[in-house]
Amino acid sequence: QTEPTIHRGLAGVVVDTTSVSMVNPETNSLTYRGYPVQQLAAACTFEEVAYLIWHGELPDPGQLEAFTADERSRRAISPELQQVLLAMPTDCHPMDVLRTAVSWIGAADPTEEDASPEANLAKSVDLLAKLPTVVALDQRRRQGREPIAPDPELAYTPNFFRMCFGEVPGDDVLRAFDVSLILYAEHSFNASTFTARVVTSTLSDLHSAVTAAIGALKGPLHGGANEAVMHTLDEIGTADRVSGWLDEALATKRKIMGFGHRVYKNGDSRVPTMQAELDKITADGRAGDLRATYDALGAEMLARKSIHPNLDYPSGLVYHLMGFETAVFTPIFVMSRITGWTAHVMEQLAGNALIRPLSSYVGPAERAVPPRS
Ligand code: CMC
Repeated sequence: QTEPTIHRGLAGVVVDTTSVSMVNPETNSLTYRGYPVQQLAAACTFEEVAYLIWHGELPDPGQLEAFTADERSRRAISPELQQVLLAMPTDCHPMDVLRTAVSWIGAADPTEEDASPEANLAKSVDLLAKLPTVVALDQRRRQGREPIAPDPELAYTPNFFRMCFGEVPGDDVLRAFDVSLILYAEHSFNASTFTARVVTSTLSDLHSAVTAAIGALKGPLHGGANEAVMHTLDEIGTADRVSGWLDEALATKRKIMGFGHRVYKNGDSRVPTMQAELDKITADGRAGDLRATYDALGAEMLARKSIHPNLDYPSGLVYHLMGFETAVFTPIFVMSRITGWTAHVMEQLAGNALIRPLSSYVGPAERAVPPRS
């Protein structure tokens, strides 16, 4: 018997086709439905990009109006879900709260078992609308504050800030946040999206796929890295400590969070766009020493290891400077990636094949069960 070739971590394996997005590490480009993500970030709102990811085309003004009206009408969460969220431990990770919320929303949805494209699209918009409400409520309950109800007069991003902080920040902050959501929205067969596709391939429901995807995104090798970046910057402290800290971290084979990527080896296509937003919001010096530490760590990683930052590096610092607690960074990622995940759920269903790989057995050879006394 010939030894099978093992593809650990499925590295380099092309599992299926997709028309949602294309990552090209050769040209360092990322397109959503054919449009370069940098151009989308410069020209569009997050709502327009969400529409694009689901429908395949950018909306015309009438389509955008209908889409945003639908999203705004779905933002409120039921009193029962509020009770569930308020009953959760206040020291659990906010991703656990989000995972539970999506599971609960699915359980309460009478269309849960309807896997038609229309029903799944409605469920996707529903999650897009409700996730910010859940994230904001969770933050406020931990601070002992009353939740702030969603405001249907406000667009997605300003409404989220208002629900979190009671006020809407300036345009520079709103724009930087919208850009981060656009950049995080979709990234082909990453671990969480693939998780959603695996669950969907068994013909399970959309909420189960999203619940599983949230679990995959939580890990620090994936979405959890944006939080881990902040812990790293805090641990290092001032820029003069970067070199010594890195000596020790690399000597102990620590992974430096916010650096490296499975697909991009010469830099993450999304970083320059996010970095430009970071530059704008730190131009007034509001980042203090943190910005110098951030720059020094980036420069040392490149010089010493030739490893580039990924999107989580600038976005982690951006979210911190916007006033979000570190544990909320990955839930914000979910508020965006819900678009990509659900587009992939629908694409998987449209041409489904059960995802069931093989393994190469390396355990004990076949043997007889000994007599049991
Ligand atoms: N810090 C230190 N060394 C690294 C790092 C890093 N962040 N990333 C890669 N390397 C080294 C690694 O040690 C290995 O070296 P060697 O060949 O000497 O053993 C080499 O580079 C190849 O790394 P790998 O872990 O085999 O590569 P991978 O494709 O399996 O891992 C990764 C990709 C993203 C898991 C990894 O780069 C990593 O752990 N990064 C830190 C976590 C992180 O920032 N994750 C976010 C990923 S992108 C956005 C997202 O999903 O949210």
